[in-house]
Amino acid sequence: MLHPGRLVDTVKRRLHRDIVADPLLHGLVLNLYMNGERYPHRVNDYFPLAAATDVQIEQLMRRHMAEEDRHISLYCRAIQKLDQPVLELPLPDVYNEVIRSHTSATFAMSASDDADARRLKLAHFFGHLHFLEKRIARSLEFHVDACAHAVCPYPEKAVAAVLRDELRHVSYTRDVVRHLLPARQAGHVLALHACAERRANLDFSSRQFYADEPLVPLLFKEPNPMPIKHCLSRQGLIGSPECRLPLTRVSEALAAELERALAR
Ligand SMILES: [Fe+2]
Ligand SMILES: [Fe+2]
Repeated sequence: MLHPGRLVDTVKRRLHRDIVADPLLHGLVLNLYMNGERYPHRVNDYFPLAAATDVQIEQLMRRHMAEEDRHISLYCRAIQKLDQPVLELPLPDVYNEVIRSHTSATFAMSASDDADARRLKLAHFFGHLHFLEKRIARSLEFHVDACAHAVCPYPEKAVAAVLRDELRHVSYTRDVVRHLLPARQAGHVLALHACAERRANLDFSSRQFYADEPLVPLLFKEPNPMPIKHCLSRQGLIGSPECRLPLTRVSEALAAELERALAR
């Protein structure tokens, strides 16, 4: 039986390959990534350099900012290579903003903040960044795999270069939270942002795909994983749609609906 984690990976891998096969969709997804990179330029509380507690953290932040700016250029060039327009998306559609809507933790420094308050806000900023970077890096791993099958070679090079930086951002941001705060408080901050990111991921994914994708709600119309196994089996990705008892197969009515959605 296919492990649920591997099932999700199979679906994501297939999803990214389908995206890359369509230049319009590929351009849109690269625009989603690119708008996340631009986000620090659209708000006034990202990378609060004045709150850096030591020179090393300030240097790490400056390097990080420069790398995210390089990512903007890489994505823009990749989008143009696909003959697609570079778009500025509304802030509520940018993943950074969606995560922030799921937590009350603020990074905005105030003149009345003492050293401890500034240190805590800085830790919240890095906690937020850590889980954002982690999700982006995971998504880019699937995307770079899909780009390897694309006709145009540039997006693969661009996305692979971005991914190398993002993997480093994932680990150093967590280290900074642990450096800034005592262990228990650091754990609390990291748990808070992990939870916000998980909620944001569900929120963001449903907003991006439910509206245009009739297949998605059908996958949850009967007990999991019967519908998804039916689809994967029909596409030859797994050997059988059978599930472990008491689950069996989807109803004939849902099978017909899934067939219609898959044929679109
Ligand atoms: Fe980036
Ligand atoms: Fe990053």
